[in-house]
Amino acid sequence: MSFDRKIKIAPSILSADFANFGQEIQAIEAQGADWVHVDVMDGHFVPNLTFGPPAVKAFRPHVKTVMDVHLMITPVDPYIQAYADAGADILTAHIEAGPHIHRTLQAIRAAGMKAGVALNPGTSAESVEHLLDLADLVCVMTVNPGFGGQKFIDMTDKVRRLREMIGDRPIHIEIDGGVDPSTAPLVAEAGADVLVAGSAVFKGGSVENPNIYGENIQAIRTAAERALS
Ligand code: DX5
Ligand code: ZN
Repeated sequence: MSFDRKIKIAPSILSADFANFGQEIQAIEAQGADWVHVDVMDGHFVPNLTFGPPAVKAFRPHVKTVMDVHLMITPVDPYIQAYADAGADILTAHIEAGPHIHRTLQAIRAAGMKAGVALNPGTSAESVEHLLDLADLVCVMTVNPGFGGQKFIDMTDKVRRLREMIGDRPIHIEIDGGVDPSTAPLVAEAGADVLVAGSAVFKGGSVENPNIYGENIQAIRTAAERALS
């Protein structure tokens, strides 16, 4: 995985047809997705439950781009190796998931993956200051995690602050929650490069009608890039 700060659209398969993940992943990649975002929820750290390592492993052969796995679970450490074995390229853990995020990020890299740290809306940019040398990605949540389709919470100041703190380090800033063509420009302008979008990508489309996915992805990308020009 090479590093760049170009805008990347990462559809969240939380909004896909759960009975048809393989074809849904193929459809979004064919329609221009840069990464595939996989939301793992445990019904404990967040009030919703999705899937675990065996399902993620089953997604892997369908993902030709980057499999970006977002863990909304606690504890994290006992499951790191299972997600490495499942083929995650990036594994992101929440700073709020336990007292030892520093150790968690080290363990994710030691297992051969890129390490991401996610921040809930109530968590400050400064909380990652001493983690930046261990992180390949900072995920700024712009909703309270747990569900797709929620309203965007403006975290533009936090993104701007993180972008300053990161400087020249090769660390992605990812935005997760409520991203659509109207909110994407705000976060792109502030310095984010990875835009996760679930409902705004999948709405109106299907594997039988995948062009809609393409139009939705392009609309988000165009809006974000326009804010940078
Ligand atoms: C929220 C998840 C998100 C979610 C985004 O808990 O982490 O990835 O699927 O969905 P939208 O884009 O619909 O807000
Ligand atoms: Zn997510």
